[in-house]
Amino acid sequence: MNLEHFWLPFTSNNNFKRLSKPRIINRAEGMYYYTIHGDKILDAHGGLWCCNAGHNRKEIVEAIQKQASELDFVPSYQMSHPGTFLLSNKLVNLLSNNLKYAFFTNSGSEAVETALKISLAYWELLGRKNKKIIIGRDRAFHGTSFGGMSVGNLMTTKQQFNRFLPDVVHLSHTHNLEKNAFSKGQPLNGLELADELTEIINKHGSENIAAVILEPISGTGGVLIPPIGYLERIKKICTENDILLIFDEVITGFGRLGKPFAIDYFGIEPDLLCLAKGLTSGTSPMGATMIHKSIYDLFMDLNGVELWHGYTYSGHPLSCAAALATLEVYEKENLLNINKEILDYWEQGLHSLKGTKHIVDIRNIGLLGAIELEQTEKNPIRRAVETFEKMFHEENCYVRLTGGNILTMAPPLIINKEEIDKIVSSLETVLNSID
Ligand SMILES: Cc1ncc(COP(=O)(O)O)c(C=O)c1O
Repeated sequence: MNLEHFWLPFTSNNNFKRLSKPRIINRAEGMYYYTIHGDKILDAHGGLWCCNAGHNRKEIVEAIQKQASELDFVPSYQMSHPGTFLLSNKLVNLLSNNLKYAFFTNSGSEAVETALKISLAYWELLGRKNKKIIIGRDRAFHGTSFGGMSVGNLMTTKQQFNRFLPDVVHLSHTHNLEKNAFSKGQPLNGLELADELTEIINKHGSENIAAVILEPISGTGGVLIPPIGYLERIKKICTENDILLIFDEVITGFGRLGKPFAIDYFGIEPDLLCLAKGLTSGTSPMGATMIHKSIYDLFMDLNGVELWHGYTYSGHPLSCAAALATLEVYEKENLLNINKEILDYWEQGLHSLKGTKHIVDIRNIGLLGAIELEQTEKNPIRRAVETFEKMFHEENCYVRLTGGNILTMAPPLIINKEEIDKIVSSLETVLNSID
């Protein structure tokens, strides 16, 4: 196969194209990928934090096939199709809070872009035109558009571009190896970092700040879990200062934390919520921005087009069919409320690796996990790269490396104990085999 002409994203194309067995997948089922070389690979990362229902679920595949045979495409500009309305109703019921409206996008990046644009337009509408500053957080990833890239602060994703949105300020991240290494679930130390938000408000003035955007858990930054009470305090400060709170649940949404959404886990209602990935269990590209009733209502006072924003494929029929079928699978199998036995087993399994060569931290929450490795002097991420490659090619197990010398895991929510054992034992074997 000629690999030359595809430019793989976020990949060393040179390395990939020189592999003796390039990682090319041509089939998937349940917890497994199958490569063109005949290898069966345990997917410990739900593809890219997204295949929450497991791969190639019959019900979802059939729903997409049926939809393709009935209606290929219709725009949602001045017209639409039943799927968009059915899906928005379902999402609103699932959230059961004041996030009553769905704006559909094709990706997480676009869901973030939509939330940022709605925040800015909201304050414009209210005549508070100075409220323009957006506050993000270090080591956050909010996608690759200029908006998401700017409010996020993962250096690897920014350093090549050097042009960003103006009026963006970042909170410190909450990761603290010295104080919180090997925490199970939320770490104890670091609540006071939320008070940086008050310092930023004192410096810039709440009359100039539009919104705070946070991933409840920073995923791509390396599964950085907020200290106990941190998100609650951020919410309180936002409310007291009339600043919108945007939660980016592109990774944490749809059962990843053992509850339907992180907002259920933490008991916090943001003003805007970004979803993608698990919305269709990765089967068809789709994102959604969920919008608080009070924001939507304000826009509906306008005459004519209320928001000059959208995408050709907003609410694409195939993606809506995929999402509706995915939500049905989640509901039928109660996948968004993972049972405690599996969550405990996951936590115990990962933490049993404490003491294994190179490991300086193990983190877990819901069915998310990360293992941080001691950095080598010359190439800080060498060990994570080697572990990723050996896990895939020698242990037939797919984990990811991200955010430095960190291996992350986000398996499909259908994972069983034997599969957890396999991930843990493979990690132990590989880590013991590298320098
Ligand atoms: C928290 C978060 N937001 C946004 C995005 C961007 O999503 P997409 O790649 O679908 O544009 C990601 C992708 O990993 C993400 O993790």
